[in-house]
Amino acid sequence: MSLANRGLWGHLWLLWLALLMLLGEAYESISDDTLKALPRPNKDFDIHKGALLSPILRPRVPGTPGSTAVLNHFADFFRTTLPKWKIQFQNSTATTPVSKWKEVPFVNFIASRDPPWAHVGDVSRLTLVAHYDSKLEPEGLIGAIDSAAPCAMLMHAMRSIDDALEKKWAAMKKQGVDTSLEEHRGIQVVFLDGEEAFETWTDEDSLYGSRSLAAAWDNEANPAMSSFKTPLSSISLFVLLDLLGAKTPVIQSYYETTHWAYRNLGSLERRFRSLKQFKSSSTEPWLVDTSKNEHELKPMGGIQDDHLPFLARGVEILHLIDFAPFKGFPEVWHVIEDDGEHLDLDTVEDWSMLITAFAAEWMELEGYFGHSDLAQKREDEDTEEEAIRLNKKTEL
Ligand SMILES: *[C@@H]1O[C@H](CO)[C@@H](O)[C@H](O)[C@H]1NC(C)=O
Ligand SMILES: [Zn+2]
Repeated sequence: MSLANRGLWGHLWLLWLALLMLLGEAYESISDDTLKALPRPNKDFDIHKGALLSPILRPRVPGTPGSTAVLNHFADFFRTTLPKWKIQFQNSTATTPVSKWKEVPFVNFIASRDPPWAHVGDVSRLTLVAHYDSKLEPEGLIGAIDSAAPCAMLMHAMRSIDDALEKKWAAMKKQGVDTSLEEHRGIQVVFLDGEEAFETWTDEDSLYGSRSLAAAWDNEANPAMSSFKTPLSSISLFVLLDLLGAKTPVIQSYYETTHWAYRNLGSLERRFRSLKQFKSSSTEPWLVDTSKNEHELKPMGGIQDDHLPFLARGVEILHLIDFAPFKGFPEVWHVIEDDGEHLDLDTVEDWSMLITAFAAEWMELEGYFGHSDLAQKREDEDTEEEAIRLNKKTEL
């Protein structure tokens, strides 16, 4: 073989590996035992004193002290409870119809965690999103479902999987798994500012934060030779939570290309219920389209929300919003009653468990939660066996 040929074979070999990885892609379900053992938010969702939720239950109009206080709450939470997460702010300013030509500041909050060995441009990130700003009017609006509760759900979910994530990555390193073969799967939470209109919803008066972030991530280049060209293309799935926290939500599936992910979430919902791990009662599933296949979804315009600037740039979207044509948005939507007292806390808690399980499955964390003997077993497993398991993606 000539040197040139050797180069060619090298390339073919890499192609072959890439093909094997694609074919072998598997989605390992979280076990019943793990579903039952996932930590619950308990008192942390108390609306008066709860460590996660209560600090968000205040007006937080962009550019006001309430907004800064909530931003500090997010930053404190990650710095103290999840210190391995990287925190970023993405800032912009814009005038609004009521700002009298003054620039209003918008601050998006991003917390992310990547595999420790991975280069920043090679990581695809499950991206979980909610907006944290509250609407200017009616005056004093708290915006509990819109979207304080979704923010708290995401905080709880990330706290609940962090340790398992650490264990999985440590095991991979310890076992000497060829990490160049594994895809680099990371996760991030985005709390967006400025979703609400200040006056009336228009393309200009709405989505201030998400428009700015989508553009910034689209324009920012990852380092040369990265797998992903920009932070925007690093988003594997953009999961947007909005208007969640009222009883018996109706969540439709809006996009054919992510319906598989919607169905995974729906199957977790069904399993939580059948394991009697949901506190809220509902005879109907929340994820009403789970039994449909992607061709049976009713095409509809979709709802205007923070995913739009990302959707327009080709990002894959899963939109979790309580809406149905026959009932509209939740009753308290954009009225003063959207406060802590009107939340259905059982539903809020169940949502947080569902999101936790979804993220745990996405990050393939089965076996890394402390409750199980399996976790110990996996630590003790002989190197070869574990390496094979972790590398299963390369098998046909
Ligand atoms: C963005 O705004 C936040 C909050 O005001 C501030 O802490 C941060 O330093 C700003 N970041 C940049 C890059 O300007
Ligand atoms: Zn709103």
